[in-house]
Amino acid sequence: LWLAVGIRHRLSGEPPVENGLIPYLGCALQFGANPLQFLRSRQKKHGHIFTCKIAGQYIHFLCDPFSYHSVIKQGRHLDWRKFHFATSVKAFGHDSFDPRHGHTTENLHQTFLKTLQGEALPALIETMMDHLQDVMLKSDTLRPSKSRWEVEGIFAFCYKVMFEAGYLTLFGKEFGDDKCQARLTAQKALVLNTLENFKEFDKIFPALVAGLPIHVFKSAYSARENLAKTMNAENLSRRENVSDLISMRMLLNDSLSTFNDVSKARTHVALLWASQANTLPATFWSLFYMIRSPDALKAAREEVQSILTASGLTVDPSVPSLSLSRNQLDNMPVLDSIIKEAMRLSSASMNVRVAKEDFLLHLDNNEAYRIRKDDVIALYPPMLHYDPEIYEDPFEYKYDRFLDDQGQEKSVFHRDGRRLRYFYMPFGSGVTKCPGRFFAIYEIKQFLSLVLAYFDMELLDPATKAPPLDQSRAGLGILQPIYDVDFRFKLRSEQ
Ligand code: HEM
Repeated sequence: LWLAVGIRHRLSGEPPVENGLIPYLGCALQFGANPLQFLRSRQKKHGHIFTCKIAGQYIHFLCDPFSYHSVIKQGRHLDWRKFHFATSVKAFGHDSFDPRHGHTTENLHQTFLKTLQGEALPALIETMMDHLQDVMLKSDTLRPSKSRWEVEGIFAFCYKVMFEAGYLTLFGKEFGDDKCQARLTAQKALVLNTLENFKEFDKIFPALVAGLPIHVFKSAYSARENLAKTMNAENLSRRENVSDLISMRMLLNDSLSTFNDVSKARTHVALLWASQANTLPATFWSLFYMIRSPDALKAAREEVQSILTASGLTVDPSVPSLSLSRNQLDNMPVLDSIIKEAMRLSSASMNVRVAKEDFLLHLDNNEAYRIRKDDVIALYPPMLHYDPEIYEDPFEYKYDRFLDDQGQEKSVFHRDGRRLRYFYMPFGSGVTKCPGRFFAIYEIKQFLSLVLAYFDMELLDPATKAPPLDQSRAGLGILQPIYDVDFRFKLRSEQ
């Protein structure tokens, strides 16, 4: 009977099972409504590890932060590629990157490390800084003035500015004369169009990951295909200052894969999505919380001002050419803490691994549990991020939470008197940790430094509450706010 209705019976040595009330879906609805509350209540009932059926899949949730390392250490039993490659294929429609499927021999992980980290970073940072200042001050995207406040939603502001700058940094600009008005107008139209298509597609991303076919969503499907068209080989070959990431991927698509042209273009759409989908909401939360907290705003302004003064840079919005080196960006502990705290409160990425075979998972407390082949093991970092024993008053924003007594980065956190190895995980863990994480932090820091240098900013309603998180994306990364919050900005008068 158990088999007939697809319900798992707990075998000895296995974690406790929750089959849920609904066939196939299992606990999906309760989990989806409020993942943190759901997992906390099950943790209370079952302890450090338990199994939930969610949309046909048995997922072992590991809730003890001291055991996170065990999962990472026992990586040989776990397959991270299967889930990641399959998810990307489902969402973006390209052929599989899994080398076992024979469409490509590219080691994607290596491509990302080479083109997003280490020596690749200074060029990315420099290009991003130029584009950010162009968008904020030179193009007519914002049109800020010294004498008049502009009112705008913070979310809308961050999306416009960061999307354009980030998109041009990765994908470059069409060849041509920078003074030609017609060309600039066409380029602007392309960026705006790309942003609209990105948003249309991004809306249904959770449904695609859950396994719904994209054809059900007509406008999102055409949005994705429009994005792919702008990224086919012919269109990309007309662009200059294309990042190493995209040029190398083009080269490897051509030399190591049997992908057809559409599949190749869709792999670039996947990277556009990866580079923007989390960065944009993370920028929103960083700016929102910073403006709302007078102490944060003051400390951040002082930090930026002192870096600019020390390097003899003057802020002139009519010649927007500030530049901050990687070293200077590395020495901004206040902005670091502001961004970290905003992401602590808004991140909900789930870390997922698939069991390659039946094996015994050893936990930190010396217990061991039997795991079956093809089961999923999941870590849900909000369990850490909202743990009151790790972070006092976890629902409160404290801009200096990640600063120590000397005003430097605080990296020691405890639980039950023991030092934690894992206490902050918005970028995932182990082999699948986000390869763009360094660039992501730099670009948000650059954005904050520039808005602080050039603009005065205020919330329209200083007493406004933080908007609720849109839980429909829980598991997938930084959550978006349910609604936007208005602020006003103008060019700073005293420099
Ligand atoms: C993967 C978070 C920005 C490129 C991921 C993953 C997370 C993540 C959680 C999946 C890790 C896992 O499954 O364990 C974030 C956050 C960002 C951000 C919170 C911003 C605040 C970026 C940027 C880029 C980028 C700016 C590129 C320019 C990627 C890529 C992957 C990835 C290529 C897939 C890696 C793979 O499958 O091997 N990111 N990311 N990310 N991210 Fe990011």
